[in-house]
Parts: sequence; C-alpha cells; structure tokens
Amino acid sequence: MIAIGCDHGGFELKTEIIRHLEHRRLEYKDFGCNSTEAVDYPEYARAVAEAVVSGEADKGILICGTGIGISIAANKIKGIRAAVCTDCFTAEATRLHNDANILAMGGRVVGPGLAVKITDTFLDTEFSNEERHRNRIGKIED
Ligand code: RB5
Repeated sequence: MIAIGCDHGGFELKTEIIRHLEHRRLEYKDFGCNSTEAVDYPEYARAVAEAVVSGEADKGILICGTGIGISIAANKIKGIRAAVCTDCFTAEATRLHNDANILAMGGRVVGPGLAVKITDTFLDTEFSNEERHRNRIGKIED
C-alpha cells in the first residue's frame, strides 16, 4: 500500500498522482488534505510517515508547494528517509542508494507529466542492497 498526503500547495498534484495510481491499480491510502484551503504540512507529513514506519504502508508520497517543508517534517520521524525529487535521475538514485521510503515533490515545482514519471521511477526502482549503501543508511539510523 502507498500512503499519500499533501498540504494545500500539493493538493492539485496529489489529485493527479492518485489518478495515476488508480490507473496502475496500485493500492493507496489518502491521508489528506482534501482541498486547496491552507493547512499545516507537518500534520500530513506525520500521518504518512507514521503509516510507513508502522508497516501499514510500503512507501509514502508527500506533496507540498516545494516538497521541502513536508520532507523536512517527515524526516523527523525515525526510520523515515524522505527525498525531494524534481527529476527521474534523483528518484532512481534515492531508491538505489538511500532506500528512500517517502517521495516528496513540489506541486509548484514539477508539472503533472513529470511528476507521474518521477513517481513511477521511485515506485519501480528497488534498493540496490549493496553493502556500502547499507552501511551508510545504518549510520543515518544510528
Ligand atoms: C505553503 O504555502 C508552502 O509553504 C508549503 O506548501 C511548502 O512549500 C513548504 O515547504
């Protein structure tokens, strides 16, 4: 299951991403928000992050205006490795090298076409599981 959430700056892009997840018949849970009315992104970051660390969700997607605030908030939760991606190269690399478990994007930064490609790249790339990357992730956890 994929946990997805946003603030008002990410609501429109989240709607596009959910449409794509449905097209791919991927299971997801939408943690809000549900409109473009202003909300506080840390609340949605926390909800999605807790779903990921608890194992309820396999991965998370968080969207705010830039992807930055919501990723900073998510990364405060132990076990979360949230990566802001604005291109497919970084989406692939953060899965291969960092085993990122949350993709963060900016609704005011990337258009829906690119965001869908970034999402597919993130979801479809497995962690490399190479020792040097496992060691580095272990040091982050420590
Ligand atoms: C909201 O205006 C905006 O600050 C938020 O969506 C995000 O970009 C914060 O990093």
